[in-house]
Amino acid sequence: MWKVIAAACVSLVLTAPLDDTRIDYTPINQFALRLLDNTYAYQENFGRQNFAVSPLSVWSIFSLLAEGSAGDTFHELMKELQLPRDLSETQGLHLAAEGILRSTDPDLIVHKQSAMFPECSLEIHQEFCQAANMYRTDIYSVDTSNTTKLADDINYYICVATEGRIRNAVKADILQDLKLLIVDALFFKANWTHPFDPTETKEDEFYNQQGKSLGRVNMMYHKAAHNVGDSNVLGAQILEMAYGKNEEFSMLILLPFEGMPLKRLLNNLAIAPLDWISDFKRDDKPPEIDVFIPRFKVSSQIDLIPPLQYTGIRNIFDSEKAQLPGISDSPLFVSKTIQNVEIEVTEEGTVAAAATIVGLENRFLSRRFEANKEFVFMITHRKSNVILFAGVYSDPSVE
Ligand SMILES: *[C@@H]1O[C@H](CO)[C@@H](O)[C@H](O)[C@H]1NC(C)=O
Ligand SMILES: *[C@@H]1O[C@H](CO)[C@@H](O)[C@H](O)[C@H]1NC(C)=O
Repeated sequence: MWKVIAAACVSLVLTAPLDDTRIDYTPINQFALRLLDNTYAYQENFGRQNFAVSPLSVWSIFSLLAEGSAGDTFHELMKELQLPRDLSETQGLHLAAEGILRSTDPDLIVHKQSAMFPECSLEIHQEFCQAANMYRTDIYSVDTSNTTKLADDINYYICVATEGRIRNAVKADILQDLKLLIVDALFFKANWTHPFDPTETKEDEFYNQQGKSLGRVNMMYHKAAHNVGDSNVLGAQILEMAYGKNEEFSMLILLPFEGMPLKRLLNNLAIAPLDWISDFKRDDKPPEIDVFIPRFKVSSQIDLIPPLQYTGIRNIFDSEKAQLPGISDSPLFVSKTIQNVEIEVTEEGTVAAAATIVGLENRFLSRRFEANKEFVFMITHRKSNVILFAGVYSDPSVE
């Protein structure tokens, strides 16, 4: 796998709502693009790397959690996920989004499934179980005390749901203390409407925005009819490559204009109105163009809590402030949100799989002080506040 950052930002998009064109999917897409921008900002701290997210999975889980939330936790989720005022409208949006993922195209497989795994002793409110059913989320009671077994069960669920693409989504140690897990898995496999001829694939250079070579890739080539155009609002050239016979899905590749940093493009995507997504297409027949796209594979595992916090969702992750009384009488908060994504783009088409795991544990009802990282200490005379000794403890040992 190549270690360079994809200069083109790749996202799977839905070309058109299948049946119900009255549904407005803007909230999901705006959330998606803000999450992409914030995930990049977070990932940037760890150096260049390829990554991918499945915003739809995250949106699904957190819109379900919104149903069980109250107070500031609820208001924050409603605002940042841009959920309709009325929860029944949110459910409608959810079901419509699931509906898009049902296709009859023989050249395409797409499915999404989700499940909730509560600790057997955790009493989930009836209303929340109904909400979960409404969101097509199955419920399986589990014994969370044996985290090895729990990890095996969750990994098995995800492996089956992603047709073997994601095998080890979680390790036992991250499941410690969790009382409730919500898992969402999305799988997509499709052939290009216009496949690439593998004999045309050649090794070629791959550059950064300054024109410096970052390494080499297997560059695929074909000449075919595609929608292509510029978006001045974004500062990028956009190419659309359709999948399958019915062209229900497509991949958009956004290549920043000369001198335009990728970060700026991502910022623009996060704030610009979504009109660009159709504006770049011409009204007439798509032109025949020469297309060069690297054959690539992206495999990422991301802790999505920091990017979601940048997005403005904070309360639900706060062990002191989270309010989720609609789920259970236990005082829960979300302590884990991990997403694994695997995407492989080849001459034939694309396989993409995502597994999102959200874990909830009990809040600490009393304030906690846990000196389990480097700390400073002082010995003082209380009355005068005079400091007698001061030091740092940072090299642990078992004395
Ligand atoms: C895609 O094409 C390959 C070979 O051309 C075929 O085996 C496969 O069933 C097709 N469909 C999907 C969904 O991959
Ligand atoms: C936990 O589950 C694993 C795998 O199912 C099993 O081998 C192990 O004995 C269990 N551990 C305990 C403490 O029950």
